[in-house]
Amino acid sequence: MHPALSAGVPPDLRSTRTGPAMTYDDILKSTAEAVEALQAAADLPTLEEARIRTLGRNGLLPQIMKSLKDATPEERPRLGQASNQFKEAVQAAWSARKEALEAAALDKVAPPADVTLPGHGVRPGSLHPITQILERVQQVFRAIGFTVASGPDIETVEHNFDALNTPADHPSRDPQDTFYLADGRLLRTHTSPVQIRHMKTHKPPVRIIAPGRAYRRDTPDATHSANFHQLEGLFVAEKVSMADLKGDLTYFARQVLGPKSKTRFRPHFFPFTEPSVEVDFSCHVCGGSGCRVCKNSGWIEIAGAGMVDPNVFKAVDYDPEAVTGYAFGMGLERIAMILLEIQDIRHLYENDARFLAQFA
Ligand code: PHE
Repeated sequence: MHPALSAGVPPDLRSTRTGPAMTYDDILKSTAEAVEALQAAADLPTLEEARIRTLGRNGLLPQIMKSLKDATPEERPRLGQASNQFKEAVQAAWSARKEALEAAALDKVAPPADVTLPGHGVRPGSLHPITQILERVQQVFRAIGFTVASGPDIETVEHNFDALNTPADHPSRDPQDTFYLADGRLLRTHTSPVQIRHMKTHKPPVRIIAPGRAYRRDTPDATHSANFHQLEGLFVAEKVSMADLKGDLTYFARQVLGPKSKTRFRPHFFPFTEPSVEVDFSCHVCGGSGCRVCKNSGWIEIAGAGMVDPNVFKAVDYDPEAVTGYAFGMGLERIAMILLEIQDIRHLYENDARFLAQFA
């Protein structure tokens, strides 16, 4: 059958009868048509059909080869040349179209990726600034023999006030200043009750720090929070003096704020220490000349401290004639805010990743 007649006929319906031998011109015309059909294929299945019609077992190419075989010796070279042209042109048209259709199909599946765009980085987590400061502070005190003690956030009035020589009419016991539970217990207003718990269960000498949360009915503002952290310190032994307190806190200041730090004690009052002081460190930013961080005073208030009151020793069955001791309490937020130059205490509790990432 002449290829022009079999072109649209499915292979299984196609007669295997061979048509008249193809002439040189027939082959050239078939070549042009086949190339055109391959180039026009709109999708891969259509292209495959066109390939079968041209290069397949019952397609054009076998017809051409048969014509070649049947040709006279004079005709054969021309027909051979034409059939080679057919093969090359059709093969080239088929593979070019196949490549183009496959590339187009890929583009439809996913937009081309721009491999030069920056990736989505995974930010590593880090310790909260308060935890970072706490770890540093603990490290400094551990180095001079302090161990870390702790107590519960919910305390008894006895531990939080009575045993700390704080009389019933002291303003800090007022419901205006303290969160009480229905059963009469309270959220501890400072970490000092850990002094009582520790001395009740340990014989002197004791040398502890006790970090933890404390709670007060404070109205939140840039420097106040109803829930904050303190670090308590207690050293009780024979002949502990104010000089030990000053020496140890000066060592602490030099470790944390820098080797040129100075320490200043101002007279103060706490029920559980006698004498009592407030402790200032020279400003680590300006060195004492006055700046924004120290509000132009040259000093930064860091702690309350003093010599343990004999009444506190009596409450825990220590002999005030045999031992003396010092105690101090400092605010961890305050140290964090000074060291990390944080403007507002509330940032420390809001867990805004943009804030926290600065200290990662
Ligand atoms: N507990 C005191 C406060 O919270 C601080 C302090 C602790 C003072 C130990 C003296 C001794 O203000």
